[in-house]
Amino acid sequence: MTTTTTSPVLTATGVTMRFGGLTAVQAVDLDVHPGEIVGLIGPNGAGKTTFFNCLTGLYVPTEGSVAYRGTVLPPKPHLVTQAGIARTFQNIRLFANMTVLENVLVGRHTRTKEGLWSALLRGPGFKRAEAASKARAMELLEFTGLADKADHLSRNLPYGEQRKLEIARALASDPGLLLLDEPTAGMNPQETRATEELVFAIRDLGTAVLVIEHDMRFIFNLCDRVAVLVQGQKLVEGTSEVVQSDERVIAAYLGTPFEGAPGAEEAAEVEAAEAGATPGATGGATQDGAQRGTTARTEDGQ
Ligand SMILES: Nc1ncnc2c1ncn2[C@@H]1O[C@H](COP(=O)(O)OP(=O)(O)O)[C@@H](O)[C@H]1O
Ligand SMILES: [Mg+2]
Repeated sequence: MTTTTTSPVLTATGVTMRFGGLTAVQAVDLDVHPGEIVGLIGPNGAGKTTFFNCLTGLYVPTEGSVAYRGTVLPPKPHLVTQAGIARTFQNIRLFANMTVLENVLVGRHTRTKEGLWSALLRGPGFKRAEAASKARAMELLEFTGLADKADHLSRNLPYGEQRKLEIARALASDPGLLLLDEPTAGMNPQETRATEELVFAIRDLGTAVLVIEHDMRFIFNLCDRVAVLVQGQKLVEGTSEVVQSDERVIAAYLGTPFEGAPGAEEAAEVEAAEAGATPGATGGATQDGAQRGTTARTEDGQ
């Protein structure tokens, strides 16, 4: 294991994901360094969520590798979480009938050593561990502004707070890198602003962040570096200023053809499909995994 303070927390090398004839992600390289907030943007259908799924072991990349602090990760969600990468989902995945606190405790389980027998016998070790987990979970609820809702069922939370709870649950595994997939989708401007502050606070506590988001103001305010995916390929990567002024990026978003531009037909199809879907359902089957037969692995991976 090569662990130095300067080595990246994340090194994705040549990550490619093919589904039959469709190449959703093509030879993408991306590093995230400690203390960084990195943005991943691109039109609908560009492959952003698929790339996240490759990073977190939900999908086994067709080619390429993903390393956390210099160690290549096996493509298994629970091992990725254990190594130190946590995520939230584009389509919220909470345990609807559990309380807010219980949802965070679920996120904590990768970091508790107490085993099955200890839990069943409820010995002193278990009780100590349980108390410590609860204290940590409450701390995270304070941090995300949900402490007064600890005993509410998660399905009764307003949408914006469900998104926050997903973040609290992801943080419960003490990640060195947090992946956020559209954390402000469906939020009002105040909630978006609060999420921005929350992401800065997470970074300041020592967790690097890689964030997918369509809200460009959010991205360009927040990110030290931004990578742009178009049709599965990394088109541009740089500071917010560099990316904002790159004509290829503007063209990709406006759908204007440019030299070497991958076609926009599929993107339009996905956009139409997503527009027809109802966002915000809690705990149910979701587009990102269920429809592709990966839900079972997802829940225990998180
Ligand atoms: N499991 C899958 N099977 C087949 N196609 C998929 C699968 N997952 C994603 N895709 C396709 O890959 C492309 C990228 O999708 P996605 O990663 O969700 O894009 P984004 O998150 O950038 O909107 C889309 O064309 C999508 O339909
Ligand atoms: Mg997506």
